[in-house]
Amino acid sequence: MSTHSAVVTVGPGLPLAVHQVPTPVPTGDQIRVKNRWTASTPLDLHQADGGLLVQPPQILGDGVAGEVVEVGPEVSKLKVGDRVFGFCWRTQAEKAHQEYVVAPEYLFGKVPDGLSMQAAVTVPNNFVTAWHTFTKNFDFELPWPKPQEYVPKEKDVWILIWGGGSSVGQYVLQVLKWYGYTKIITTASMKHHQRLQAYGAAKCFDYRAVDVEQDIMGFLHTQASSGGIGYVLDCIGSAEGSVRPVAQLAKAGTRVAILLPVILKDAAEGVKPEYEMDVEKVADWADGVVVSGVRTHFYLDNKFLAEHLQPEIMPTLLSSGVIEPNDQIIVEGSTLLERAEKALSMLRNKQVSGARLVWRVSDE
Ligand SMILES: NC(=O)c1ccc[n+]([C@@H]2O[C@H](COP(=O)([O-])OP(=O)(O)OC[C@H]3O[C@@H](n4cnc5c(N)ncnc54)[C@H](OP(=O)(O)O)[C@@H]3O)[C@@H](O)[C@H]2O)c1
Repeated sequence: MSTHSAVVTVGPGLPLAVHQVPTPVPTGDQIRVKNRWTASTPLDLHQADGGLLVQPPQILGDGVAGEVVEVGPEVSKLKVGDRVFGFCWRTQAEKAHQEYVVAPEYLFGKVPDGLSMQAAVTVPNNFVTAWHTFTKNFDFELPWPKPQEYVPKEKDVWILIWGGGSSVGQYVLQVLKWYGYTKIITTASMKHHQRLQAYGAAKCFDYRAVDVEQDIMGFLHTQASSGGIGYVLDCIGSAEGSVRPVAQLAKAGTRVAILLPVILKDAAEGVKPEYEMDVEKVADWADGVVVSGVRTHFYLDNKFLAEHLQPEIMPTLLSSGVIEPNDQIIVEGSTLLERAEKALSMLRNKQVSGARLVWRVSDE
């Protein structure tokens, strides 16, 4: 069997390594993709430094953009030469920080004409996260196709997106705006406020302000018929930086979803991060608050989303301009390993703000 290079974590806090791994021949509905661009995300840091949900040696990454080079016998929608992008994570063959990725075609969409692969690769994992969170954790309908004159039933309820400047937050805002949600507030650094308002936030708050919780409550009191906050999505999952203020704002009846893991201690040079997966434990929630953790890895349980989200909804909303990709920071380096290590170091040192780290997988 032929082999190719893959970036693996060999143990928590250890330097990454490049291994030669088998290049499987696609079977059934699988395609083989020559992976051109990938992204490094906080999950890569959680796994490399914290050993979260990994069994080393494990290939990292879950965002792929490249060309189809081989198809299995049951593939019906994609063909050799198509430019595709996708969120793939379940097996070593599907993971993204490697030269070839083999996965079923339903985990990919076609990159819209005119969109670069480096921009496209910022989209899949957190676009899927946005959709999964609101349909699964909050039971929002997000009907597809969207009926003309669609009015969401939660339109009069305030929604707080904590951390709207994050990659997830940016896709969430854009999707909710398109469905007609207008009562959305968000927290982010001031430098991101203008963009987030364009993405649909009615009001942005500086999360670093000492009294940010009071600022938010004060704003809601000025709003006619405000019944408080109905839904809170914590896009950050920092025990101190987001969960604590969110717990102060959530009252009986508020539904809170937190992107897992909850970070108890941040990764840093020489510091092993600490995580908690039980969201009930991480704050003193008021009676009647309904809190849940988000696990996007389960989105395929929804058969409709499994079939339509990446192949159809994601490229359609991108090509029609409803969604724009995250800004990209291109991570340079002369080897695959150098680029992967540098990206991880930038995540560790919190050098990512309102953008996604992307890098070339292929040296060709
Ligand atoms: N469980 C799941 O299904 C799932 C899925 C996707 C993501 N996640 C997790 O969700 C988290 C976010 O992922 P991501 O890819 O969206 O991250 P990201 O884009 O890398 O997040 C960085 C952004 O977060 C902002 N930020 C940091 N601390 C903040 C705080 N206390 N309040 C408000 N904003 C803050 C930063 O803003 P400034 O630079 O302006 O300070 C920066 O723009 C990660 O921990 C990730 O692992 C989980």
